[in-house]
Amino acid sequence: MSSDLALAIGIQFLESGKAFILSMAQDYLSLKKTDGSDSRGEHQLCYRAIGTRTLYTYIVATSHGPLIFEVQAAGSFLSTTPPETDQPYQHQRTRGATSLSLSLHAHRSKHQAMAAPKKTMRALQYDKYGGGAEGLKHVDVPVPSPNKGEVLLKLEAASINPIDWKIQKGMVRPFLPRKFPFIPVGDMSGEVVELGSGVTNFKPGDKVISISFATGGGLAEYAVAPASLTVARPPEVSAAEGASLPTAASTALQQLKAAGVSSFDGGSGSVADNNGPKNVLVTAASGGVGHYAVQLAKLAGLHVTATCGAHNLGFVAGLGADEVLDYKTPEGATLRSPSGTKYDAVVHCATGTPWSVFAPVLADRATVVDVTPGIAAAAKSFLQKVTFAKKRLVPLVLIPKKEEMEWLVDMTRQGKLKTVIDSRYPLSRAQEAWAKSMEGHATGKIVVEMGGAE
Ligand SMILES: NC(=O)c1ccc[n+]([C@@H]2O[C@H](COP(=O)([O-])OP(=O)(O)OC[C@H]3O[C@@H](n4cnc5c(N)ncnc54)[C@H](OP(=O)(O)O)[C@@H]3O)[C@@H](O)[C@H]2O)c1
Repeated sequence: MSSDLALAIGIQFLESGKAFILSMAQDYLSLKKTDGSDSRGEHQLCYRAIGTRTLYTYIVATSHGPLIFEVQAAGSFLSTTPPETDQPYQHQRTRGATSLSLSLHAHRSKHQAMAAPKKTMRALQYDKYGGGAEGLKHVDVPVPSPNKGEVLLKLEAASINPIDWKIQKGMVRPFLPRKFPFIPVGDMSGEVVELGSGVTNFKPGDKVISISFATGGGLAEYAVAPASLTVARPPEVSAAEGASLPTAASTALQQLKAAGVSSFDGGSGSVADNNGPKNVLVTAASGGVGHYAVQLAKLAGLHVTATCGAHNLGFVAGLGADEVLDYKTPEGATLRSPSGTKYDAVVHCATGTPWSVFAPVLADRATVVDVTPGIAAAAKSFLQKVTFAKKRLVPLVLIPKKEEMEWLVDMTRQGKLKTVIDSRYPLSRAQEAWAKSMEGHATGKIVVEMGGAE
């Protein structure tokens, strides 16, 4: 395809009669208006586009809301928004140019899927610390606008993590929330509807997942999210699965990495190839973080011992755990592996386990990665560090990373990492989801779906 290939795009609006190009994803593209009416005398705008790249994205404003479509210079439509149109276009080649004609009149109802964001949206917010699920209030508030480096998402799903209600409890005050009222929940999936300045790697219509627990926003119809922590969601990964991954799966991954696991290729060679741990204990393996940790540890080829309640023994074994302990039994409380295996690493997702319980079940050189360390654990960790102890407790706070989120999405796409959903709630019942998370007995993830059945 030559660089001077020209595109003439005719856009027919049988009723609206008004259209204009709002913006283009590629600013090197030049457009020239070439016509003003179609053969039936109805309003038609034709533009001649000359560019050097193959893919052009157009956002066209109509009286039915913005329409987004992509044109390949070779002359084929890659997609229109909405993508499922009956006969969305006809195109003919002319010498040195490709002419495309898009008929929009038959599909107006579908266009609403990409209509401009409403001015207000439904959301749940709290305006002070404490209050639990009852502290969340249903409100109609303005749809936020994306700032520089942000994207505005029309949300499809959000997942609740303990950090969300811990912020409400004031456990990370004065840092979070940054201000009241606050729309909570940082893990979300949705569709990009607007780009803040400087965002070039997404376009309206992209399905994505994102994390922004500092700014929250997930319990709403729309939310802004940092583009730097937003990744594409392929069709194989559902919105609920995608919303479940950012905090819980990233934490599990970072815990394993902090314990020295460096390869997750699933082969037995992954362990032999490195000096990382071979035997791992995952505590609270039935929870959001734990159920991912078991699967990731198996992808790394590790021998996994896991703890959970009696009702989840089969579930956790089904995730791949080699040995499973009921944490409420006296044996389970000791964390001793039935086979006598000593642990090189502990992915510690439960709370309140003193070092004296870990010490006897650890190998000579071992790392316990703790995501909820108390003051005693933090002090123990410091002491171990300065004395170069071989058995170490390492506190971990998740630092979300885009490349890890992309990898987790890809593992999900390939079917290597499964998300187990404990329960789903529509936005109108998000308080129930919140209360369920606060009870601390979820098996897998708790998801709020914006389009969920009431
Ligand atoms: N530091 C960080 O950056 C970070 C990041 C993510 C999460 N976290 C923390 O990690 C913890 C786990 O998060 P999560 O999302 O996995 O929570 P979750 O989904 O709410 O965990 C609930 C599960 O944990 C099980 N459980 C509770 N206590 C247990 C115990 N002593 N032994 C074995 N299983 C137990 C429960 O089983 P039963 O129903 O049988 O009781 C339930 O299945 C939370 O405290 C969270 O705040 C920290």
